[in-house]
Amino acid sequence: MKGKILKELLDNKGEFISGQMLSRNFEISRTAVWKYINALKEDGYVIEAVPNKGYRLIEAPDLIVPEEIKTMLKTSFVGNNIIYKERIGSTSDYAKKIALTAGEGTVIIAEEQTEGRGRMGRRWISPPGTGIWMSIILKPKLNPAKAYQITQAIAVAAAKAIKETCGLNAGIKWPNDIIVNGKKVCGILTEMSAESDQIYYIVIGVGVNVNTSLDDIPPELRAKASSLKEELGRYVSRKKLLANMLNWVEEIYLKFVNNGFGAVIKDCRELSVILGKEVEVIQTDQKYRGRALKIREDGILLIETQEGIKEILSGDVSIRGTGGYI
Ligand code: BTN
Repeated sequence: MKGKILKELLDNKGEFISGQMLSRNFEISRTAVWKYINALKEDGYVIEAVPNKGYRLIEAPDLIVPEEIKTMLKTSFVGNNIIYKERIGSTSDYAKKIALTAGEGTVIIAEEQTEGRGRMGRRWISPPGTGIWMSIILKPKLNPAKAYQITQAIAVAAAKAIKETCGLNAGIKWPNDIIVNGKKVCGILTEMSAESDQIYYIVIGVGVNVNTSLDDIPPELRAKASSLKEELGRYVSRKKLLANMLNWVEEIYLKFVNNGFGAVIKDCRELSVILGKEVEVIQTDQKYRGRALKIREDGILLIETQEGIKEILSGDVSIRGTGGYI
C-alpha cells in the first residue's frame, strides 16, 4: 500500500492529492493514509501536508524503489517486474531461487547485500544506499555454448548507460568489467541453468559502485577499484542510472538475441580498454601474458604470446601498467 500511495504522489509530483481521494481509491481509512504518508516521510520523502488540500510530494530520496524506476523505463519486458529489497544476502541467489517461475526480464534490486558475490568466488562489497546491486533474469532461446556472449553484450549496455548518465568515459575490460580512468567501477556475474541444448535461465548480476566512498573500498583494492562518484567528483543519481541501464540492457539484449553476436561486436571492440595492450590472463589452471590482439566475431579474445596466438574464452584480465599488472 505504501508503494501505491508513493506512485500516486510521484504521478502527481508537485500537485496536491487529497487524503479523501487516496482513502477512496485505495479503500483504506484516512488514518491509514496518514500512517503511510508518515512512513514515506521516515523513508526520506519530503511531503507537504496542508489541511483541505491534501498531500504534495516535494522531494524524493535516492532510494531505488520500483515505483520510481518504472516511471523512467522505456522497456517492453525488462523491469516489468521489479522485486525490491532493502537488505538481502545476494540478489543473484534470490533470482536463482525464483528464476524458473519468474517472467523473463524480472529484476531483483537491493539497497544492501550482506553476501554479495563476485566472479571466481570473490566477495562483492555492497554497502547500503551507495550502489546498484541487481540481478536480471533472462531466458534466451540460445545454444548454452553461446551464453558467454551475453555477458559481453550486457557489459556493452552497462558501459553505454554509465557514459550516457554520467558523461564518464566508461570502457570494457574484456569480458565484462566496466572501467573508468583505469579503475573498475562495475562488475558483472553471469550464472546459468541449462541442459546441453537448452537454457532454462540466465541470471545476470550487476554491481555498480555508484556513490561508494573510497573508505568503503578495501585498501588492497583501491589501486584498481573506484566508484562513479569518486571519478566524477559529484554524487550520481542511482535511480536514473539504474533505469537507464535497464533501458540499455533490453535494447542490446534484443539486438543480440535477434541478430546474433555480430550485431554487438562493433560496440565490444570500440568500448574495449585492452585491445593493443600488454595483458595477463588468469584462468583457473592457466596464466598467459601477451598482447591483446582482437576480440573475434564470436567474442573470443585473441592474445599474442611468445608461444603463439591463444584463444581465450573466459578469464580474469589485467592490463600492464607502470607498476605492474592491474
Ligand atoms: C565481478 O566479480 O566483477 C562480478 C560482480 C557482480 C556483483 C553483483 S551485485 C548484484 C549481484 N549479486 C551478487 O551477489 N553479485 C552480483
